[in-house]
Amino acid sequence: MKEIGSQVTIAMDGPAGSGKSTVARRIAEKLGLLYLDSGAMYRAVTLLALREGLAADSPKLIDRVKACHIEFTDNGRTILLDAEDVSVQIRTPAVNRLVADVAKIPEIRREIVNHQQRIGAEGSIIAEGRDLTTIVFPNADFKFYLDASVKERAKRRLAELQAQNENATLAAVETEIRERDGKDTTREHSPLRTADDAIIVDTTDKTIEEVVDFIIAAVCESV
Ligand code: DC
Repeated sequence: MKEIGSQVTIAMDGPAGSGKSTVARRIAEKLGLLYLDSGAMYRAVTLLALREGLAADSPKLIDRVKACHIEFTDNGRTILLDAEDVSVQIRTPAVNRLVADVAKIPEIRREIVNHQQRIGAEGSIIAEGRDLTTIVFPNADFKFYLDASVKERAKRRLAELQAQNENATLAAVETEIRERDGKDTTREHSPLRTADDAIIVDTTDKTIEEVVDFIIAAVCESV
């Protein structure tokens, strides 16, 4: 069995607003792991498409993705796109609306997955997204699938948007989440699904700390 001191991979998937990012970030801090926010990479590519006026399915965007440089600093809190900090710009409503269309392009996924696997090879990591337990790290030491009701997830997203002074209503955010869930789960390449060997965690009525403690207990129990 693994010790936390040796190389450990924790993979976590789930829909938008299930709490993955916050939970994974806290666990990374507590266990001293590298944190990988895979959605941020698809968002950075989407920002590139918006800025350069490229359609999600255009060959030019694939070329740009191959040529661009995406990296994380500050243990995954800051994302750099060609050396520019775009951590705030990747969370706008315009990016939210387009990102699922960009993330369904197989050539774009291939580039990003390769990049994620290289990051994963660097050391112990907790990585979260939609295909981390199934495609990126199918042999991860620990796999979790976080979920929550659509209403609860919409409330969480609305609070995030309000914190950024973005105008939105609960109904609009809920509709957007349903649409994005639909695209993420039905796309042809690497759809969001629960890996057979993942532990399912329903976060609807749980605090962040409860989910963090549950996962750390599950990991520490088996090391
Ligand atoms: O987790 P998030 O909301 O930041 O993800 C943004 C989008 O990126 C989401 O709609 C689906 C896509 N995504 C993906 O296809 N695969 C991943 N591993 C992570 C995110």
